[in-house]
Amino acid sequence: PADSAPAGSEVERPFSKVVVYGSGLMGSGIAQVAAQYNYQVTLVDLNQNMLDKGQGYIRSSLKRVARKKFADDASQQTAFVDNVMSRVKVSTDPVKPVEDADLVVEAIVENIKVKQSLFRSLDEAAPQHTVFTSNTSSLPIGQLLAATSDQRATQFAGLHFFNPVPQMKLVEVVKAATTSQQVVDSLTAFCQSIKKSPVHCNDTPGFIVNRLLVPYMMEALRMVDRGDASVRDVDTAMKLGAGYPMGPFELADYVGLDTLKFITDGWYKEGEGLVGDGLVAPSKRLDALVAAGNLGRKTGKGFYEY
Ligand code: 3HC
Repeated sequence: PADSAPAGSEVERPFSKVVVYGSGLMGSGIAQVAAQYNYQVTLVDLNQNMLDKGQGYIRSSLKRVARKKFADDASQQTAFVDNVMSRVKVSTDPVKPVEDADLVVEAIVENIKVKQSLFRSLDEAAPQHTVFTSNTSSLPIGQLLAATSDQRATQFAGLHFFNPVPQMKLVEVVKAATTSQQVVDSLTAFCQSIKKSPVHCNDTPGFIVNRLLVPYMMEALRMVDRGDASVRDVDTAMKLGAGYPMGPFELADYVGLDTLKFITDGWYKEGEGLVGDGLVAPSKRLDALVAAGNLGRKTGKGFYEY
């Protein structure tokens, strides 16, 4: 059978039904990998248009995976894609899908009030055993779980994936002050069951990856602002001299310049000491690109044109 994960059957599977909120690139990617490894998934968003887009992302990514898996066999490729897609349900109902959920992964807009309000309503509708997680890249997990009941606070953690989700192996499992060790262990097993490599960290700004990556990108901007090197040469240097698959500007365009600005502005506003003095101070060059709507790959223009 064109199933995706016979290997998944021998690893521990701590959840059976997964509900993903937000059908953007991250949410769709998370729904995809969970479905690829045999979880029943519901992808939830505000309207059918967004869900159609999300299903489109999943289908085209699965086609890439299928082409590698079944190189010369078009019918096996189609069967694989259809089989995985059959495990991804979609819904525009904001709370109904959590009524029998084991794991919730939130990947909606990076706005603390909107996320808190979603978690508040999900907390009322979800069974006691349901584990809540957020894929936030820059908001404190402690502030998100504060919107839920005390019982849920032990069942709440960060679960941070990387773009492109189907390809990037890492997931950061973030333990907030109240997260139970049992929940950390279940999330670790979940990551392993979808063939990701989990790492663990406390609820600290940027977790591990963004805490290092974001100041690095901002330092690259400052270097270009000083006129010490060009955008292209900085990217070439980091690819060929440090082995990164993308240079900092290519990566910023890939992640989205609005996202980079959102993260740095948020940390900067909280006070310089939060991630280190001067590390995330605003950049005029970044601000100007964002103000002009040049947000990177998704708009066709950022540091580069696409
Ligand atoms: N779905 C499925 N597979 C995909 C994919 C997708 N959406 N995107 C890429 N791939 C696969 C390709 O099929 C290919 O597989 P193969 O090597 O087995 O044949 C492999 O990825 C490489 O893809 P390509 O050959 O098309 O292109 P590249 O070699 O240029 O790789 C890249 C593209 C994987 C994006 C690579 O450039 C890369 O790793 N870049 C760095 C990405 C990164 O650092 N991401 C983290 C960003 S930070 C973040 O997400 C945190 C957030 O909070 C801000």
